[in-house]
Amino acid sequence: MIKIAPSMLSCDFSRFGEEIVRMDKAGADMIHLDVMDGHFVPNISFGAPVISSLRPYTKKPFDVHLMLSNPLDYIEDFAKAGADILTFNLEANSPVYETVAAIRSYGLSPALCVKPGTPVDTLFPYLGEVDMFLIMTVEPGFGGQSFMPETLQKVSDLRAQLERLGLDTDIEVDGGISFDTISQASAAGANIFVSGSAIFKASDAGKAIDDLRKAAADI
Ligand code: DX5
Ligand code: ZN
Repeated sequence: MIKIAPSMLSCDFSRFGEEIVRMDKAGADMIHLDVMDGHFVPNISFGAPVISSLRPYTKKPFDVHLMLSNPLDYIEDFAKAGADILTFNLEANSPVYETVAAIRSYGLSPALCVKPGTPVDTLFPYLGEVDMFLIMTVEPGFGGQSFMPETLQKVSDLRAQLERLGLDTDIEVDGGISFDTISQASAAGANIFVSGSAIFKASDAGKAIDDLRKAAADI
């Protein structure tokens, strides 16, 4: 199922709650929240207390993208803050199975992410273990970067491998997703699309989300 997840990294942080309500009303399927620790990525965003304060603004799922060196140390904090999906990186320092188990122990959905330079077959041992894979289509850390087309092969290889095993696990893409690039990512086999600047730069967020959804479906 195609889902559009606005990345709140591009919103006006002085009106964070209202911006979430605006995305909810605009038809977002999930709210994508980018957590950066200034160590795993060269940028700092916001953490669990901010997410907790935003939780009352919508009933839509919180898709929390943890760009942390030690995600396992913070699973409880983000679970208590109201996350629904917790995505962490294979390249981080936390053991994958233990982190997945910790996420599931709070009743949340675990998702595993790789950066653009990490080969997709490093994810293959975890097929069937997580509810979603995130293939980064830019280097993580900042919004507004250009989509890296060379990451698409990873999406199609992962989709093919999942299909071979009879799994319909979600594949999310994140970074540089626009009206042009979303159809390529969808054709490659992604079904969840994070988009920050394309949605927040648009004058009508509802139309932007509709247009992205249509472009993703029209392959
Ligand atoms: C980057 C973040 C993305 C980013 C996407 O590290 O994970 O979610 O905000 O923004 P755009 O769509 O502008 O590339
Ligand atoms: Zn993200």
